[in-house]
Amino acid sequence: MSNNILEIKDLKVHYPVRGGFFNTIKDYVKAVDGVSINVPVGTTYGLVGESGSGKTTTGKAVMGLNHVTEGTIMFNGHELTGKGKKVDNHKDIQMIFQDPYSSLNVRKRVFDIITEPLNNYESLTKAERVNRVLELLKIVGLPPSAIYKYPHEFSGGQRQRIGVARAIALRPKLIIADEPVSALDVSVQAQVLNFMQEIQKEMDLTMLFIAHDLGVVRHMCSYLGIMYRGRLVEEGTVDDIFNNPQHLYTKRLVAAIPDIDVDHVEKNLVLRNQLKEEYEQNFADYLDEEGRAFPLQQISDTHRVALPVRS
Ligand SMILES: Nc1ncnc2c1ncn2[C@@H]1O[C@H](COP(=O)(O)OP(=O)(O)OP(=O)(O)O)[C@@H](O)[C@H]1O
Ligand SMILES: [Mg+2]
Repeated sequence: MSNNILEIKDLKVHYPVRGGFFNTIKDYVKAVDGVSINVPVGTTYGLVGESGSGKTTTGKAVMGLNHVTEGTIMFNGHELTGKGKKVDNHKDIQMIFQDPYSSLNVRKRVFDIITEPLNNYESLTKAERVNRVLELLKIVGLPPSAIYKYPHEFSGGQRQRIGVARAIALRPKLIIADEPVSALDVSVQAQVLNFMQEIQKEMDLTMLFIAHDLGVVRHMCSYLGIMYRGRLVEEGTVDDIFNNPQHLYTKRLVAAIPDIDVDHVEKNLVLRNQLKEEYEQNFADYLDEEGRAFPLQQISDTHRVALPVRS
């Protein structure tokens, strides 16, 4: 048996576009169009790409929140979804959302927000639930007094901690974190990322971590998948992606990371300009007639790239 807790194979999620007098299907938005991802147990896999590339759609398909047009999703050796099927939310898989304010029910107190997922699966007494919530608040670094407060009484970073407490309440095996820090101030982002990483290690969680930019995932992830228009253009270890990017799109993402090291600023500026030119001239070669990536080719044990196919 493989040690992959999650195996996504050739996933396609196409949304119908309706229109006209009879509201008939005119076309399809191919939000995800043939994505395969394997995530080994206990690791964090970073799914990175620009807005609209299909990251959330992929995450939601794993959660069972989306229909699946084609492909299979295996979780812990069980098939979650097959063609046309929509599965129920699985207790072992939980999601953390981008905007902690809109994803938490603002009219509920922290106690109810965190215990809500528990109520569906475990019959606990009130005292047991209070204890569980206090334990969870401690894990995410919030004081016991938070238990009877409402979401608006917290800062953005604290609210995301509540979102994490809720997600880990059922002791899931897999967490899908959909841009969990992009709504937060840069100063708070690092704190939240750090404690998420601690929890991931302590609870031996597997994480699918969705992000816009590579900077955020660099220290979180073992593997990275770079998404463009519903497909992966490159996949590999953090080292493969950062030190040996092969796809032009990945190269630009890597070069776009803000410089911390002053000595590199000028060098990177030159590199960015070079890549911009190369991109304008050659990027079309990397795409098929539909403007999508070619199939991935294995270039090392860990590294796969959608290299141009010459016809
Ligand atoms: N329910 C839906 N119906 C129709 N189209 C949709 C639906 N949900 C998403 N899409 C389309 O699918 C594509 C992928 O969307 P998705 O939300 O997965 O992107 P994303 O990579 O998460 O982007 P972002 O970084 O902005 O969150 C987009 O073109 C989007 O407009
Ligand atoms: Mg998204």
